[in-house]
Amino acid sequence: MTQEKATADTVLEIRAVHHRYGRALALDGVDLRLVAGECVALLGPNGAGKTTLVNLVNGLLPAQAGRVRLAGGDPRDAATRRHLGVVQQSLGFPDTLKVGELVTGAAVRAGMPRAAAAPVLAELGLTDLAGRRAARLSGGQKQRVQLAMALVSDPALLVLDEPTAGLDVPARRRFWQILAQRRARGTAVLVTTHLIAETAAIADRVVVLDHGRVVAAGSPAALAARLPDRTVIARTSLGPARLAGLPGAVSVREDGDHVRIGTRAPESLLRVLLAEDPELSDLRVEGAGLSDAVVGLTEPTEPTEPTGSTEQTGKVGVR
Ligand SMILES: Nc1ncnc2c1ncn2[C@@H]1O[C@H](COP(=O)(O)OP(=O)(O)O)[C@@H](O)[C@H]1O
Ligand SMILES: [Mg+2]
Repeated sequence: MTQEKATADTVLEIRAVHHRYGRALALDGVDLRLVAGECVALLGPNGAGKTTLVNLVNGLLPAQAGRVRLAGGDPRDAATRRHLGVVQQSLGFPDTLKVGELVTGAAVRAGMPRAAAAPVLAELGLTDLAGRRAARLSGGQKQRVQLAMALVSDPALLVLDEPTAGLDVPARRRFWQILAQRRARGTAVLVTTHLIAETAAIADRVVVLDHGRVVAAGSPAALAARLPDRTVIARTSLGPARLAGLPGAVSVREDGDHVRIGTRAPESLLRVLLAEDPELSDLRVEGAGLSDAVVGLTEPTEPTEPTGSTEQTGKVGVR
């Protein structure tokens, strides 16, 4: 992206970011831009680098290489972080503090009047819980308290790291509804998840991260249509090239003396596979986890920039 294209509604701009923990490379050249009101889901298996990227955005980690700009400033500066709301993967609350006190405290720390807490408590359905100790609430209620604390400053960007991990389906749904209302008011959202199914409910755009690189990007529907949703596992004498040529094979990975073949059409694949290798043994078909689904993805064929349209080309970097 050129400087001129960084328009006024750019909320987050990440350019060529690398990050190492010692010798381990966690981010290997990531670019990403978000505009106001846009929701991007950062999807990737465990260890992909999602939390590292999020921690660069929320100022917890310094940028070792590349550039991170939040509302035009450096997220390491406290003044810039005023534009940011953060919901972490799991946060314990101090045992004594009540919901209302936590949200009021967050408002005051953000330079807002104490009175800013009440409307946010109402927005999140927490008014009746304001006098309860946060540490004793259910998982879904605790997440809403975190979200209230993040939203009370009316941030330009909300960053959420696997916010619904461990929540049941109704709690998840409620969480996403609240976010959708905020997005309608112009808040940009960057949310990490390792659940591909969840991205459809959340995001305008999905950016798939694996081994610290963006390996695919596109609308949730386009990605879901291309990523394998089943894994065929077997012991076979057929080589990887032959397996990759099977009808419907999207990815092939060796795993000890087994192979794992990602597909969206296990039936037609299996017919040919069994015909080609009558000796095949130890056959299983499983729902594809994300680590299987991202095998074979190498680079995005859709931009990691906002497109300004909901048009779906259905193209992702699946080979
Ligand atoms: N504090 C750390 N020290 C050393 N390595 C780390 C640290 N945090 C993360 N890593 C490594 O960096 C990579 C990316 O991790 P992370 O950003 O947590 O991924 P994700 O959130 O997608 O699971 C992983 O290989 C992980 O083991
Ligand atoms: Mg993580």
